[in-house]
Amino acid sequence: MIRFIHLISLILLLNISFIENVDRNNFKTCEQSAFCRRQRKYKPDTTPYEVDLSSMKTITNGHLQFSLLNTLKSHVKLQLDLYTLQHNSLRVKINEINPIRKRYEVERVLVSEPKLVSVNITKSDNNQIEGRFDKTARFILNAKPFRLDLFTNDIFVMSVNSKNMFNFEHYRKKPASDGAPADNNAEDNEDGMWEETFKSHHDSKPHGPSSIGIDVNFLNFENVYGIPEHADAFSLRSTHDTDPYRLFNLDIFEYDIKNPMALYGAIPYMLAHNEHATVGFFWLNAAEGWIDVSNDKLNTKNLFSTITSFFGTKSNENNEVPEVTTHWMFESGIFDGFFFMGPTPNDIFKQYTALTGATPTPPLWSIAYHQCRWNYNDEDDVRGVNNGFEQHQIPVDVIWLDIEHTNGKRYFTWDTSKFPNPEKMQDDLAVYGRKMITISDPHIKKDDGYQVYADAKSRGYFVKSKDGSDYEGWCWPGSSMWLDYFNPEIYKWYSQRYSYDNYKGSTPNLFIWNDMNEPSVFNGPEVTFPKDVVHYGGWENRDVHNLYGMLQHMATFDGLLERSNGNIRPFILTRSFFAGSQRTSAVWTGDNAAQWSHLKIAVPMLLSLSVTGIGFIGADVGGFFFNPDAKLLVRWYQAAAFQPFFREHAHIDTARREPWLFGDDNTRLIRQAIEQRYSYLPFWYTLFYRQEKHGVPPMLPLWANFPRDTNTFKTEDSYMVGNGLLVYPVTEADINQVSVYFPGQNTVWYDIRTFTQHNGSETALINVDMESIPIYQCGGTIIPQRLRKRRASMLAIHDPITLVVALDRNHEAEGELYLDDGQTYDYRQKHAFIHRRFTFKNNELKSISLDSSAKFETDAWIERIVIVGYPKNPSRVEINSGDKQAIPIHSYQDGSQVLIIRRPGPAVTTDWTLTLS
Ligand code: NOJ
Repeated sequence: MIRFIHLISLILLLNISFIENVDRNNFKTCEQSAFCRRQRKYKPDTTPYEVDLSSMKTITNGHLQFSLLNTLKSHVKLQLDLYTLQHNSLRVKINEINPIRKRYEVERVLVSEPKLVSVNITKSDNNQIEGRFDKTARFILNAKPFRLDLFTNDIFVMSVNSKNMFNFEHYRKKPASDGAPADNNAEDNEDGMWEETFKSHHDSKPHGPSSIGIDVNFLNFENVYGIPEHADAFSLRSTHDTDPYRLFNLDIFEYDIKNPMALYGAIPYMLAHNEHATVGFFWLNAAEGWIDVSNDKLNTKNLFSTITSFFGTKSNENNEVPEVTTHWMFESGIFDGFFFMGPTPNDIFKQYTALTGATPTPPLWSIAYHQCRWNYNDEDDVRGVNNGFEQHQIPVDVIWLDIEHTNGKRYFTWDTSKFPNPEKMQDDLAVYGRKMITISDPHIKKDDGYQVYADAKSRGYFVKSKDGSDYEGWCWPGSSMWLDYFNPEIYKWYSQRYSYDNYKGSTPNLFIWNDMNEPSVFNGPEVTFPKDVVHYGGWENRDVHNLYGMLQHMATFDGLLERSNGNIRPFILTRSFFAGSQRTSAVWTGDNAAQWSHLKIAVPMLLSLSVTGIGFIGADVGGFFFNPDAKLLVRWYQAAAFQPFFREHAHIDTARREPWLFGDDNTRLIRQAIEQRYSYLPFWYTLFYRQEKHGVPPMLPLWANFPRDTNTFKTEDSYMVGNGLLVYPVTEADINQVSVYFPGQNTVWYDIRTFTQHNGSETALINVDMESIPIYQCGGTIIPQRLRKRRASMLAIHDPITLVVALDRNHEAEGELYLDDGQTYDYRQKHAFIHRRFTFKNNELKSISLDSSAKFETDAWIERIVIVGYPKNPSRVEINSGDKQAIPIHSYQDGSQVLIIRRPGPAVTTDWTLTLS
């Protein structure tokens, strides 16, 4: 028996090391993916598709329906549905009429059926229909050839099928075995249509070809963003000389940076931004996708006359304007495209999240600092780490346990030799105000003695192979099976595994990490499910692949919610994601490496996620693989302290790297960075609340706040936290200077440490040493902070607040503060929150409530007000709150123009006015 276990371990070890050394050859290129090969080479001179305008039906006001014909294949009939939506958005669906097999339409992504607005048909002739709707949106549907043009504020912004790439592979009968095509059509038998082999993996393709390609083009734009997840630039690069960007959720170990390979999650959503407008295109499709991007010039002479004047700027002397052309190719499903017409960045955030949902305000502790490693070995180790934080006076909110904490990778169990008393361990952490997070992966170990497996097996809950048997593959526990979350009953059953009864040893202080949920299958094609495994409803993995991880983490969320009777906000971290994941989970960028290049790429990766709705995001601090040297580690802490999700994590083979293991000086620097994070938590929390309300993510590209500053459109070395902080992380080893661009004409920026001023629209060389995190507060903003030191964030929720008022050139500023209990839903159900607006104008700083129904009991008060950029020492400072008046002490520093008001004293819950004279 023992020998057998050794053998299994050896096989596992070999398997794991095989996976960890995986190279690019284990993942398909477009050329190796038959549908991508076919679609990419499709380049007709004219499109064979025509809209039959005589077929137009008005289903309701806001929903028009047409037949779309393929003039080369008269038997293929498509239907085009056009919906005008609220929030300046348009939806276009294209599907087969009476297909021989129903095509998959994505479920569980949209928060509800999108609301229609009425359309005003402003023109209709025998070749065009023009409609206006909502605030500034307009479309022109051209019939022959099929093409759709979109305008916002009468500026021509997007155009569909203007490059003739629309190519819809209808379902068809398989050619007879003698090779004669069933439809008498030679192209129905192209290579890879009916089966495909990659390495040793055969894809049986029982339903044949079903892919769709289409071009969506952004006129007068030079920059497009989004379509995560790729370890690549923020402003997407031309794929002229590379593969297209791929969207297919995969576990790619030791991923390379600066390439368009797929990673763990997929959001088929792209934005374009220029100085006139921000627009977006989202194709709701969960199959494997590839997207070509090309920076072109469009000759406006070739355009029909009605639209040439609508670019917002003039074309150049050759009648050209820039254009980003994009070619989207998905393996199956329907065309379900959403077009967002902005026109501002904040409009775009609202438009996308109105459809797919916004991240709800997370528990306060989850936006503080997390300490993780694969693995903390046992309860003593956990206690030791907790004590380390105490001893070195470094705040931390959560300690994490990776897969080794379980009994042989059987999730919902504990390795009782190492963790004999998990409840006590969690209770002990709770004494310090700290939480625990354990990992729970989707592979279920094949072991009749394992309750979760045995139950699921007997109920028939596992994903099926094409022959109907339970699909079996390899992952951490060895032979494993995967639950079919697509079945609502199985989804519910899985979520119930998180009840305290089912998950023995879990307490209210424990939250969850869902990993390997692409899903990762060590011996599967491209380390995942075969395309022909079958889910609930008969859908193939081919149709639904990119949804799998999201369904797991959504079910986990439901389970944690249920376990507290809907009272406590869950926290889940997921590796795999899809559009909509933001509603229930934080996301991290997976297995990065302890290299400077990985520290640097984190910014564009996180920005790409941010602008596509996934706002609660982070990258493993220090880098997951390999050992960072002290300098890299310190720099990583300094950067991540200003990124939304802040967690140190490391591979099992790396050296220990808790913050105090690199000498006193580095411990101090790391402590400083973490303390800074804690001091800004009231600001972060306010931004997260704003995200829930308005869809604006906390981490933003510069152009989101400075949409007309063309210098920012490609920026990815710096970013903003809300509209208040400009962050330029130091991402190179041996430099003592960085070159920081300060956006915005007439904008003034203040170094948050020295209050040195910098002018907007200028680049400055900034000297840096290991102490420096180049961060600047934008003039015109007011940022709330908490400066008292605490060991964990939840211990500070009633602590006093400091306001940093950074004045703009007119000596004005404004900002907000949102506070609540940090963990329950009382803020929604009982209005138990505080939401205040602060404004500084005409020498007066005022605090007013933004919501009169809001009440959260707290004795938090305003402890200090720092006004920067104030031109002179006021002779008198007076504060009035109700009938109370006070004259607080103040001091003024001439050189830096900083006025500090000590203990002004009003409660954060009250209205007050501070007057300077
Ligand atoms: C892969 C994850 O990306 C990593 O963070 C984790 O430590 C390992 N799986 C082990 O669970």
